Amino acid sequence: MLLTANFHIIAELIACLFAFKLAREKIMMQIVKLITETRSIISKHKANGKRIGFVPTMGALHNGHLSLVAQSKKDNDITVVSIFVNPTQFNNPNDLKTYPRILDKDLELLSEYQPDLIFIPEVEEVYPEPDTRVFDFGELEKVMEGKNRPGHFNGVAQVVSKLFDYVSPDNAYFGQKDFQQVAVIKQMTKDLKLDINIVACPIIRELDGLAMSSRNMLLSELERKNAAKISETLFKACNLVPDFGVSQLKEWVITEINNNAYLEVEYFEVVDDTSLKSIEKWEDSSSRIACITVQVGKVRLIDNISL
Ligand code: PAJ
Repeated sequence: MLLTANFHIIAELIACLFAFKLAREKIMMQIVKLITETRSIISKHKANGKRIGFVPTMGALHNGHLSLVAQSKKDNDITVVSIFVNPTQFNNPNDLKTYPRILDKDLELLSEYQPDLIFIPEVEEVYPEPDTRVFDFGELEKVMEGKNRPGHFNGVAQVVSKLFDYVSPDNAYFGQKDFQQVAVIKQMTKDLKLDINIVACPIIRELDGLAMSSRNMLLSELERKNAAKISETLFKACNLVPDFGVSQLKEWVITEINNNAYLEVEYFEVVDDTSLKSIEKWEDSSSRIACITVQVGKVRLIDNISL
């Protein structure tokens, strides 16, 4: 009896200590909603000679995002994370409406990594007026995501250029899961002559190989199970390169995935990993990447693999 009572007291004490630790860690991370405040905190750090690392996100964080935060913490004195669901990059209003927003859980996950500043602006703060700037990425945006989501990369460039301006990072971290996005951001940084080093980080996957994505949580249990077929097929495709031609491999991948009743390929492209130009023969490029987009029910998932 006495033993059970003691056990309860100890369990409660541990829970209290844990809650206190979490609350303290949340307080140690500065959470800021205003651009002016962000600028002023950053300029103080810069005046003290600190190197700034920046991880832009749209929240609903997972280990893919957190791997970028961990890399930034390793490389820099100060790490800034932004959480902002950017309306201008959504070409599908329903996608914007259903995009997962779970700020409390995001902050809890981030508290494990302790970034120094978390910037969480409202839409009106970033876009007090509509952004009418038009970016031209030429060939880079005429294929794959650029072709299939008109205006998407313009919206990405609008928001990332604004965020870069507020945060003035030395290094900015992006995931290779969004391969074309990295190419577009590198081009934008060059075009705007920004002194920011763009760091591309590897794709983080679930145990069954599915690339982690905020959209995965929108899948039903059966859709989620079947979505693993996407990466499974990409891994197999890699091994078929010596025996298959490019168009034969494309056909094989598309058929293999479309044979699954839950999946429908939107596009599968094999491109040069710098120019993003489609290749017809393996000899056309020494550094090839295969990029895929698959519709899984109402959810659109992307993945890629180096061939
Ligand atoms: P979001 O989809 O939240 O992704 C934020 C960053 O996390 C991106 O650089 C993305 O490539 C990276 N990421 C996502 N899943 C990953 C995974 N499985 N492994 C490694 N990295 C992963 O991308 C955006 O937001 C937005 O377009 C943004 C750049 C924030 C502009 O609004």
